[in-house]
Amino acid sequence: MTAVHEFPMARTCPFAPPTAYAEIREEEPVTRVRLPEGKQAWVVSRHEDVRTVLNDRRFSADRQHPDFPQLVPGFRRPDDERTMITMDAPEHGPARKAVLGEFTVRRMEALRPRIQEIVDERIDALLAGPKPGDLVETLSLPVPSLVICEMLGVPYADHDFFQTHTAKLIKRGTPPQERRAAVEAVREYMSDLIAGKEANPPDDLLGRQIVKLREEGTYRRASLAATGFLLLVAGHETTANMISLGTVGLLENPEQLALITADPGKTLDAVEELLRYFTIVDAATARLCVEDAEVGGQLIRAGEGVLALGYAANRDPGAFAAPDELDIERGARHHVAFGFGPHQCLGQNLARMELQIVFDTLFRRIPDLKLAAPVDDLPFKDDAAIYGLYRLPVTW
Ligand code: HEM
Repeated sequence: MTAVHEFPMARTCPFAPPTAYAEIREEEPVTRVRLPEGKQAWVVSRHEDVRTVLNDRRFSADRQHPDFPQLVPGFRRPDDERTMITMDAPEHGPARKAVLGEFTVRRMEALRPRIQEIVDERIDALLAGPKPGDLVETLSLPVPSLVICEMLGVPYADHDFFQTHTAKLIKRGTPPQERRAAVEAVREYMSDLIAGKEANPPDDLLGRQIVKLREEGTYRRASLAATGFLLLVAGHETTANMISLGTVGLLENPEQLALITADPGKTLDAVEELLRYFTIVDAATARLCVEDAEVGGQLIRAGEGVLALGYAANRDPGAFAAPDELDIERGARHHVAFGFGPHQCLGQNLARMELQIVFDTLFRRIPDLKLAAPVDDLPFKDDAAIYGLYRLPVTW
């Protein structure tokens, strides 16, 4: 019998998944691992198999279930705080549909001028600040935070508060008590904010939800607070990390960067490829098998946990030729960096647009941008559920 691997596995290169992923994918693409809390789960590593798991009703997203394969201990929440990301059919569809209209391509296009303005202001601040400057603090974190705050109707002045708590939530080593306290703090904050909007709902996402849900007779403050919480956290931390990593990825591959500076029409392709290349949300796409299913020739039984490894899938040579190379012209749109199936990222149109505007503007306005530290010295987030960078010193 093959040995059970420990999970998560360590990386040896900041630009690649753990080397064990390639071995697993070749030799035993559906295999057992031991999770930090001691439980075992399956990992699925091939592109095709990852898509199967994420798109099959026999695999549940119910993170509250006691058998759900938790990577971060103590992550369970009370039932009335459930959001779409932990729901299955038939509840999931209506919960997602309630906010889907806020994230359509058309809605996002309407935000483009404002996002451009925000990006320009942050680059002004970077240029006016000391050299070297920290790209994370000046650009990567503020851009998506400002955008999601304005969309939701959350005062950006509170960003220190929610960014600090989010950082605790995604760090694997945060003790369960502290994690719970962080969840409670943000939830209470969101609930108070929403309470303040109830008397006269403003024309922001939360205000519009109050009106709409009241009309439907389904308005509950706690439930809207949970959705607001999800959107606030998912809306800034992910894109922020992709801005930092994408910048490093392009600076380290100058011939690829030259393609987009010569032709900004290629930036969206670069965004897709960078999303694939870094796959910042890897094992967080976990599921619980609720009905026996065969995946990649392996029987998975009801009650067993499964980690659909997005990063292994996105480096699968069966789906992407020369997968370890950054090649913005490869046509990477079938990547699973935004997940796949019913839970595929709700904010993907927003994330794509933010990344496109940032990379276009950053390299146009600061063509001689460079890293102010060797890549090996950069503080990569090896200890977090979402990969990224804590700081990114740059100069020009
Ligand atoms: C580069 C940026 C982003 C990445 C890589 C990313 C990645 C993901 C992934 C992998 C999932 C699927 C989770 C699963 O299947 O269990 C997901 C779901 C989700 N994302 Fe994103 N995300 C990004 C940006 C955003 C933004 C900007 C927002 C909101 C403003 C957002 C909101 C959500 C929501 C609400 C879900 C749950 C959807 C559902 O359950 O139906 N994400 N994201």
